[in-house]
Amino acid sequence: MNAFFSPTETIILPCDPKGIEKAVQLIRKGYPVALPTETVYGLAADALSGEAVARIYQAKGRPSFNPLIVHVADRTQAEHIAEFNEDALALADKFWPGALTLVLPLKKEAKIASIVTAGLDKVAVRMPSHPVIRELLKICGCPLAAPSANKSGSISPTTALHVKDSLDGKIAAILDGGVSDKGIESTIISVEADEIKILRPGPITTEQIAAATHLPIVEYKANGQNPVAPGQMASHYAPSQPVRLDVSKKDEDEWHIGFGKITGDDNLSSSGDLTEAAANLFSALHKAEKSGYARIAIAPIPLNGIGKAINDRLGRAAAPRN
Ligand code: TXA
Ligand code: MG
Repeated sequence: MNAFFSPTETIILPCDPKGIEKAVQLIRKGYPVALPTETVYGLAADALSGEAVARIYQAKGRPSFNPLIVHVADRTQAEHIAEFNEDALALADKFWPGALTLVLPLKKEAKIASIVTAGLDKVAVRMPSHPVIRELLKICGCPLAAPSANKSGSISPTTALHVKDSLDGKIAAILDGGVSDKGIESTIISVEADEIKILRPGPITTEQIAAATHLPIVEYKANGQNPVAPGQMASHYAPSQPVRLDVSKKDEDEWHIGFGKITGDDNLSSSGDLTEAAANLFSALHKAEKSGYARIAIAPIPLNGIGKAINDRLGRAAAPRN
């Protein structure tokens, strides 16, 4: 096959033994496959193969300086890739498998393709809990590099159809494992000798991390130039229309995403439950994008707990585009 193969149509595979076998075959041949994780759908390729990982960047149109998360089957595999200090071990014990990504020093002997870390000396690792990616990790026997399975800069996918809408014709296959129940990407932290930096808020809250470590926690704010968390670009997760935040009463040309008592045209959680709102967030943005309205307005979302991650994503959706 060509180095960069462009399928004309992307097939959706069921998560049965045949579908899984087909996905494994494609990954072994070096072709990225979209698959469900508990946070969002990922576009997965063998993290040891530079060529396979290059196809992820190509399919997403992702800037090559933006590194990828390496997904692992177990702690042994993680410890072959990254240097864990005691604090990192304690956090992995507490939150893995699950929605926490640890940025740690890359082991010198790790065989991860350098395109995965974009040449950085740190690597982001996560042990996911979703049974489908766990099964793939087990059968493939290699760590899987996987960004969210969407065109770079657009809204993250929480269903197989979201992936198809965004990457149809650009990837060979999508494994359909239903809806990603957390609905928002993993929390990313950098575990350093004397502090923990929160690089991206997510389903595991700052409060939960604080309760599991003695280190001070610093919330890292990207300034657009600093490459520590290259994916933290101001405009990200952006629908095609302009987005206005903290809106209680919409204008006529706006599709209104509500929360709690602010009903809206759609509602993230009518009971005001932030976990439910996180799970519905990207679906609601996809729906808003397809609504035919010229602009999108979003009700105020409280900043506590996972509300911080929701507001982080909304801030990027509303940021001025380049
Ligand atoms: O929940 C998730 O994390 C999903 C699922 C598929 O696992 N993945 C995901 O990947 O959200 P992605 O590529 O969309 O976002 C990963 C973020 C990017 O902002 C990237 O810059 C950052 O992780 N990152 C990756 N490696 C890094 C590193 N070595 N140092 C700092 N930031 C890193
Ligand atoms: Mg992403």
